[in-house]
Amino acid sequence: MATHIPPIRKQNPYLPFGDQKGTRFYGQDILSVKQFNRDDLEYIFGVAHEMAGMVRRIGTFDLLKGKILANLFYEPSTRTSASFTAAMERLGGSVIPINEVRYSSVSKGESLPDTIRTLEAYADVIVLRHPEVGSAAMAAKYARKPIINAGDGIGEHPTQALLDLFTIQEEMGHIDGLTITMLGDLRNGRTVHSLSRLLTLFDVCINYVSPDILRMPAEIIGEINDKNIPQKEFSDLETILPESDVLYVTRVQKERFATPEEYESVKGCYVITREIMQKAKEEMIVMHPLPRVGEIEMELDDDPRAAYFRQVEYGLYVRMALLASVLGKA
Ligand code: CP
Repeated sequence: MATHIPPIRKQNPYLPFGDQKGTRFYGQDILSVKQFNRDDLEYIFGVAHEMAGMVRRIGTFDLLKGKILANLFYEPSTRTSASFTAAMERLGGSVIPINEVRYSSVSKGESLPDTIRTLEAYADVIVLRHPEVGSAAMAAKYARKPIINAGDGIGEHPTQALLDLFTIQEEMGHIDGLTITMLGDLRNGRTVHSLSRLLTLFDVCINYVSPDILRMPAEIIGEINDKNIPQKEFSDLETILPESDVLYVTRVQKERFATPEEYESVKGCYVITREIMQKAKEEMIVMHPLPRVGEIEMELDDDPRAAYFRQVEYGLYVRMALLASVLGKA
């Protein structure tokens, strides 16, 4: 006689994580930074710390032995895809990599819900990057297993925002009281959309520096305003650089422009050089979600304030913490 396998039911995704009963985040989707409160961040960063210690001491361990991650990427990725793979393997689990959907049945017209329902039959958690805003939320509606949003178009990139905040915490020792300046393509940069929302949980000032056509969307400015966070917009960096504690640089996202002419009109609008950095605080950090395409000169990489490759490593620990948490092993 066939054994009945009970369905895995998610807890209510609309409750703040802190209000969920049982293990924090167990069985949950990670879709938007709006889901987190400060206690959640403290918990994730605490687990990420432990992960960093374990990786440095023993490299790989068996916390998620027997668990499988489906890594489903409809858009290119180096860091997010590789770090989730590394995170799962460092935790002793395994990965189904689908980084080139054109070699999967997506190229035959398979829908996202069908792809998700297929992969969850094989895996315990699905990481999804997709070009459409809201795609991760849509996938989560169909999935019984946790969905982790790895970037939905110009929408959100919540795991990047978590690792960005963890980087600030680790590098600066605190987040409250800081002035964070975001620079570049603020219209299309989902990392700055998520990070600015997450920063509203702290007592910070936010500056936006961009060309006029790449300003932070009004919807996000409105959300930050509603949380009474001081924010200012600028078109040039030099006036605001000396008072910044964190400079968060972003790439102008060529792939999101309607015409090549529009991209050409703003390409290379800001380039961070050694000369510009002379006007910055000695203890300021420069962050970038990467990839960079010329907006930070390579000559800056040796400056101790250049935190972007350390930021990559922090991402591994945060993603290990998230996988362990949603699978109930943190
Ligand atoms: N920061 C980031 O999302 O990088 P990838 O596009 O390489 O994943």
